[in-house]
Amino acid sequence: MKASTIAHAVLGFSATVSAAFTPDISSDSAVKDTAATLAYGLMKFYNGNLTGGIPGLLPGPYYWWEAGGMFGHLIDYWYYTGDASYNQVTLEGMMHQITPKGDYLPVNQTNAMGNDDQGFWGLTSMMAAEAVFPNPPSDTPQWLAGAQAVFNEYAVRWEEENGLCGGGLRWQVYSFLNGWSYKNSIANGCFFNIAARLARFTGNSTYAEWAQKIYDWEVKEGIITPEYIIYDGIEVDEAAKTCQNIHKVQFTYNAGVWLQGAAAMYDYEKSDTWKGHVNGFLEYTTKTFFQDDIMYEPACETVHTCDQNMVSFKGYLIRFLAATAKMAPWTNDQITKIINNAAKDAIKVCNGPNGPKYPGPDGTGCGFSWLDGKNDGLYGVGPQMDALAAVFYTLLPNVKAPATAKDRGTSKGNAGAGSTQAQPLPEPRAITGGDRAGAAILTILIAAGILAGSFFVASDVFSFA
Ligand SMILES: *[C@@H]1O[C@H](CO)[C@@H](O)[C@H](O)[C@H]1NC(C)=O
Ligand SMILES: *[C@@H]1O[C@H](CO)[C@@H](O)[C@H](O)[C@H]1NC(C)=O
Ligand SMILES: *[C@@H]1O[C@H](CO)[C@@H](O)[C@H](O)[C@H]1NC(C)=O
Repeated sequence: MKASTIAHAVLGFSATVSAAFTPDISSDSAVKDTAATLAYGLMKFYNGNLTGGIPGLLPGPYYWWEAGGMFGHLIDYWYYTGDASYNQVTLEGMMHQITPKGDYLPVNQTNAMGNDDQGFWGLTSMMAAEAVFPNPPSDTPQWLAGAQAVFNEYAVRWEEENGLCGGGLRWQVYSFLNGWSYKNSIANGCFFNIAARLARFTGNSTYAEWAQKIYDWEVKEGIITPEYIIYDGIEVDEAAKTCQNIHKVQFTYNAGVWLQGAAAMYDYEKSDTWKGHVNGFLEYTTKTFFQDDIMYEPACETVHTCDQNMVSFKGYLIRFLAATAKMAPWTNDQITKIINNAAKDAIKVCNGPNGPKYPGPDGTGCGFSWLDGKNDGLYGVGPQMDALAAVFYTLLPNVKAPATAKDRGTSKGNAGAGSTQAQPLPEPRAITGGDRAGAAILTILIAAGILAGSFFVASDVFSFA
């Protein structure tokens, strides 16, 4: 832990005792200090280890999936910097949400459970195995098995023989959720990415066959184009039993999740085909998600419509880029440059005050947009994570590639983990006082038909967080 962080913790940091934070990425130790300060501010949002908090959950208005994403960043934060300050809260949060079955499908989240939501926890479980993160007690579910459980449940939900459009995962896990009639690139991208990394980690070819099948399906539907453009998704017409009407909006995290999956497949197969896909996705990424060389979220950033989920996507793109550099080494120089630039751009906007929107130490809150070098005041878990990721992933040259079972990995797998039957509907939870507002909003919106075909709106509304 760096000295100034200890001072914050001990003194009870406040504006009046502020020693100005000067973000600096000019040396490895400066990067570590800066990342430690940003991480400290990030974790001030988290109350899962405090009285009244639930381990693994961010307080409202943050949704379940974002905490899963946050723990992924914290695992790599430790892997890249060696600072274990947040390992214990991460372990406890992950273990609470993995559920005794080991599948990251907690019943509390039924009313908002998308395949992508479960996927972000599955990705984090895979990261823990790849980072050789401390293992949970051996009588509880393990990291690798957690990723396998998510994979197995995805495989059950994949619609092929009796399904629509000859394959694909729907966005939502349960048919009563709006968004069920939409098959999207993030849900299928999580499946693809986890399958590819399981193939790379375990050497089991079944996972690679699935990754290929998922990839082929996205291409067949035209959601991934021959130019490697990744569209958001395609609607299911339940009556006509077809998929049509591609939603063409494009997001950074979709680019990242497919890019890294392709890199994992390359590392597993060492084939020119996957090398070509890696190059295609990387070129698409650099053409689409940068303005004057500055990373941004083109779907919403310049028009100020990014929702709370979307403001966290850039951080995942950076994470996926870093892993790509390790798994597809010829991309290393290009990606190192991208991440160094992102860090330089991000720290310019990390000077925000402690206050109602930012619980961390004064002068350490990061705004969202990096485009004009000025703090836009959009503080939150997402923007703070984006900047944290940009900063610590600059340590890329210092770290080894993600581990595999043969190379350093210790996490125990279970090829049969998770549910192997079509998804049973969990027992609904008794509606408590805190749930009522959410349930009412849900009913009203469904009645009004407002949600049909919208993306990410549902996870905003359906969560009872
Ligand atoms: C909760 O976690 C934070 C780190 O994020 C730590 O500083 C704090 O001491 C923990 N609190 C308790 C009560 O364990
Ligand atoms: C589910 O909600 C209950 C009631 O708030 C809580 O005690 C429990 O820890 C939650 N479980 C998970 C996995 O979040
Ligand atoms: C490979 O993975 C598949 C899919 O989970 C599983 O059925 C099979 O048993 C695994 N094979 C080995 C040798 O572990």
